[in-house]
Amino acid sequence: MKGDDIRWMRLALKLAARGRRRVFPNPMAGCALVRDGRLIASGWHRGYGLPHAEAEALKLAGPRARGATAYVALEPCVLFPGKKTPSCAQALADAGVARVVYAAGDPNPFVAGRGRRLMSARGIEVVSGVLEREGRALNADFLERMRRPASRRPRIILKMALSLDGRAASLSGESRWITSGASRKLVGRWRAESDAVLVGIGTVLADDPKLASRGMGRNPVRVVLDSRLRTPRRARVLDGRAPTWILSSKPGRLPGAEVIALPKGRGGVDLRAALRELGRRRIRSALVEGGPAVWRSFLEAGLADEVRVFIAPKLLGGARRMSDALVLQKPALRKSGPDFLIRASLWPVPANR
Ligand SMILES: NC(=O)c1ccc[n+]([C@@H]2O[C@H](COP(=O)([O-])OP(=O)(O)OC[C@H]3O[C@@H](n4cnc5c(N)ncnc54)[C@H](OP(=O)(O)O)[C@@H]3O)[C@@H](O)[C@H]2O)c1
Ligand SMILES: [Zn+2]
Repeated sequence: MKGDDIRWMRLALKLAARGRRRVFPNPMAGCALVRDGRLIASGWHRGYGLPHAEAEALKLAGPRARGATAYVALEPCVLFPGKKTPSCAQALADAGVARVVYAAGDPNPFVAGRGRRLMSARGIEVVSGVLEREGRALNADFLERMRRPASRRPRIILKMALSLDGRAASLSGESRWITSGASRKLVGRWRAESDAVLVGIGTVLADDPKLASRGMGRNPVRVVLDSRLRTPRRARVLDGRAPTWILSSKPGRLPGAEVIALPKGRGGVDLRAALRELGRRRIRSALVEGGPAVWRSFLEAGLADEVRVFIAPKLLGGARRMSDALVLQKPALRKSGPDFLIRASLWPVPANR
């Protein structure tokens, strides 16, 4: 039995790993349903907001799940306030599963131990700790995040891209692209390292950004401050490629996003309430990408921890379009006391001089 448990748990963990880069900020989960030594159905969590692994496997198994053993990476979940998917512990019991084997307990304080108790109370034999080390390693990021106190706000990094004369956009509102491909690649890496990226609705309307990691790693959760729910249905942040949370003071629904209701505050939604909500969802870090109104709000509220400012060697002055910017030749940077001095020529320098 023990050897079999290990063998089937290995399969459950392998199934779970298919969700890598797709399920964030959820844990990866896989489920193998086994009866009389044979696999009758399997499933895995395919993405944030989609059915859990247990639900996928139970759906495939139908009535054949009765009397089976379910192998899963994490303790099956129970219902808690605000949860969107049904309880897997309940579903396994309802389907008549006889035995449930899992690798590691769910550290989510709403779930921990309660999944186990619910199943035991329904007469299921529950075994935990099979391949526990491997199961924990698989979901190390999730487990680490869940240990974080829900009361802690995320670390806030303000990222700005400015022209040499301090503009964040052309007169027509374009900010694509102030910076070079190399800088944008770096931003892709910062996004992959962050749990969330945050922008104001002004930026969504002006630039329609995807806020993705540009191939530099997993995509962060996308957060939009949008108190009046003006995000267009065709906005690219709603493309379903990563979870999107619209923080709004106006209740409503938007396909491709979760609309989270928050009180109104200065400049739009209440920033402290917004960060409390992100903390409750165990977001450890957020890259705040703008625009200027949002930077200002974070600075005024004293809620920024770090700034990362790109200065592009161009003058945007009264340029209507980004393509009208004056690109400076051979910029040179040096420090002057605490200041940075940048000198550049406005005229092309012949290559052969
Ligand atoms: N160079 C860069 O690095 C960069 C980066 C991003 C954007 N941009 C450019 O910046 C421009 C957009 O910037 P923007 O300043 O107009 O708009 P924004 O900062 O992107 O968004 C501001 C809007 O967000 C909503 N909001 C909700 N809660 C807020 C809060 N607590 N504080 C502030 N705003 C809140 C408000 O609209 P509601 O009242 O409707 O909620 C507010 O009008 C575009 O031209 C874009 O191209 C440049
Ligand atoms: Zn579940």
